[in-house]
Amino acid sequence: MYEISAKDLFLWIRDIKKNREDIDDLYLLLDLVGGVSRSDLFLLKINSNDKIFLKIDFHSLKKRWIEHTQLSKPIQYIAGGAYWRNFKFEITADVLIPRVETEQIVEIASDIIGSKDRKIIFADLGTGSGSIAIALVLENKNWKGIATDIDINALKIAEKNYRKISSESNINFYCGNWWEPLVHYAGRIDLAISNPPYIPRSVYERLPSSVIDFEPKKALYGGEDGLSHIKQIISDAPNFLVKGGWLILENHFDQSKKIKNLLREYGFDSLNTVNDTFGIGRFTIGRYK
Ligand SMILES: C[S@@+](CC[C@H](N)C(=O)[O-])C[C@H]1O[C@@H](n2cnc3c(N)ncnc32)[C@H](O)[C@@H]1O
Repeated sequence: MYEISAKDLFLWIRDIKKNREDIDDLYLLLDLVGGVSRSDLFLLKINSNDKIFLKIDFHSLKKRWIEHTQLSKPIQYIAGGAYWRNFKFEITADVLIPRVETEQIVEIASDIIGSKDRKIIFADLGTGSGSIAIALVLENKNWKGIATDIDINALKIAEKNYRKISSESNINFYCGNWWEPLVHYAGRIDLAISNPPYIPRSVYERLPSSVIDFEPKKALYGGEDGLSHIKQIISDAPNFLVKGGWLILENHFDQSKKIKNLLREYGFDSLNTVNDTFGIGRFTIGRYK
C-alpha cells in the first residue's frame, strides 16, 4: 500500500474539478485502481492530517488519469474492472464494458419465469464479460445457464469472472456463432437472452473515440441496419427453444418494431417492448408458440 496525505489527494481532486474534467470518472479511477471508494473519501476532511492508503503510488495514479483524459480511454479498461449491478467484473480489451441499461435484463428474465422454484435452462448468447449469465444464476438458484461467445478470449474472461464470484457450476461456457455450439440443447432451452451487437453502420461510424478506439467492434457493430445478428438469433431460435420458451433481446432505440415483425415471422407471440430506465424501448421480448 502507498501512503499519501488526504490533503494532497483532495487538492488533486479540486484541480480536476476546476478543469471541469469528469469527476465521476475520477472517483471510479480512485476506486478501481487506487482502492479508495467515494464513500471512504467522504469520511475524510480536506484539512485533516489523515493519511490515505492507495493500492498504487500517487504518481502512477495520476499517470493513469492522464492516459484516460488524453486518449479518452475508459477507466474500466485502464483499471481492468467494472461495476455492474452489485458485482465487480474483470474487463479486458476483448469484452464490452457492461452497460447500466443492460442491468434491467436480469429483472425482465426473472419476471417472465415467475416462480423462483422453477428449474429452467437459459442461454446468454454473446456473454462478453459474463455479466448477464452470472447475475441470473446467482439470483435464481434453480436455473442452469449456458453462456456463449464467438470470441474465445471474451469467453475465458466470463468463466474467470464466474469462478471468482461463485464456487457453484451452474453455467456451461461454449465458444461459437450464436446457437451453433448448442446443438445438444436443441429444443430444450426455456429462455434465451442476448445483448447482441446491434449498432447500425452510420451510427457506429460516429461513435466517440472512447468507444470506437477501445471497445471491441465485434461486440457493437450490427451491420448496415444493425439487425444482422438479431436476424440470425431469431431465425435459429425455434430450433433451440422449448415450445412456450422466451427470447429477450436488447436492441437499439428504434429497432423494436422491426424485431417484433421478425419474431412474428418465426413463430413467436406475446410480443412486448420494455422501456429502459431512460424511457427507451430497449428490450424486445417474444414467446415461441
Ligand atoms: C453487446 S456485447 C454484450 C456483452 C454482454 N452480454 C453484455 O451485455 O455486456 C455482444 C457480445 O456478442 C459477442 N458476439 C458477437 N458476434 C457473435 C456471434 N456471431 N456469436 C456469438 N457471440 C457473438 C461479442 O463478442 C460480445 O461479447
